[in-house]
Amino acid sequence: MRFLCDEMLGGLARIPQNSHKRPESYMTGPPPMLLARFSYQMHDEAFASLRRHWTHTDERAMIRAMNTETNHPPLIVGITGASGAALGVETLRACRDLGVPAHLIITETGVRALHLETDLSLDDVKALATQTYPNKDVGAAVASGSFKALGMIIAPCSIKTLSGIAGSFSHNLMIRAADVCLKEHRPVVLMVRETPLHKGHLSLMSSAADLGCHIMPPMPAFYAKPKSIDDMVRHTVGRALDLFGIEHERVKRWTGEA
Ligand SMILES: Cc1cc2nc3c(=O)[nH]c(=O)nc-3n(C[C@H](O)[C@H](O)[C@H](O)COP(=O)(O)O)c2cc1C
Repeated sequence: MRFLCDEMLGGLARIPQNSHKRPESYMTGPPPMLLARFSYQMHDEAFASLRRHWTHTDERAMIRAMNTETNHPPLIVGITGASGAALGVETLRACRDLGVPAHLIITETGVRALHLETDLSLDDVKALATQTYPNKDVGAAVASGSFKALGMIIAPCSIKTLSGIAGSFSHNLMIRAADVCLKEHRPVVLMVRETPLHKGHLSLMSSAADLGCHIMPPMPAFYAKPKSIDDMVRHTVGRALDLFGIEHERVKRWTGEA
């Protein structure tokens, strides 16, 4: 391991400084996957130097390889009937592109909101997922803690579903799967969407947070200077993926430089 790192860093020394061209030595050198594998053990400065020579395509392939290599168990993706179906769809797209299996649950009202807010059919959305479960099927695989899941994201999450999760009222698969993830101490991210919020909504969020949920209402990050709703959705989903330890390049990260 140490040998490989040294080899890679040794190769770097041969790359002319300030060169933005992809060096030939790297093209024939270790595959991006290996670079990714060892990147965590490298000194930050050396890693940053190495990174300057990656093309965007390299980076995407490398990130996908890194997720595939990590062999993530499936992420359960829930879409409810709150406004913001695009958030769930983007989460599924991200999982597909990043090599993370996504298991989808969509509620009846989630389908209605999807049709109202996007040009996608239910089949289009199902095609993005590795597997889809009927929300009524409280006996599906994800209803048991013995099924290994990375965790669950509900994007968007209605107040009704939030209420069910806060009270462990598992009358459908969406809420049951979230409850199971919580009891197994797996991350659960709720992109709760409603505005304005009354105190009951706030109390429900507080109760869900006490149980271990990440409460993440979709709020745009203006420092990223979004140019479109897609930009905002992409950034929001990227920040949620961070909470599951999924590698991606969807977020313009704050570096401290104004
Ligand atoms: C177009 C549309 C938009 C809605 N937006 C929201 C919303 O932003 N937040 C919310 O909590 N409920 C919203 N609702 C209401 C929920 O869909 C409703 O409470 C539903 O019972 C939620 O069920 P589910 O959580 O099982 O999907 C909306 C309904 C429709 C039809």
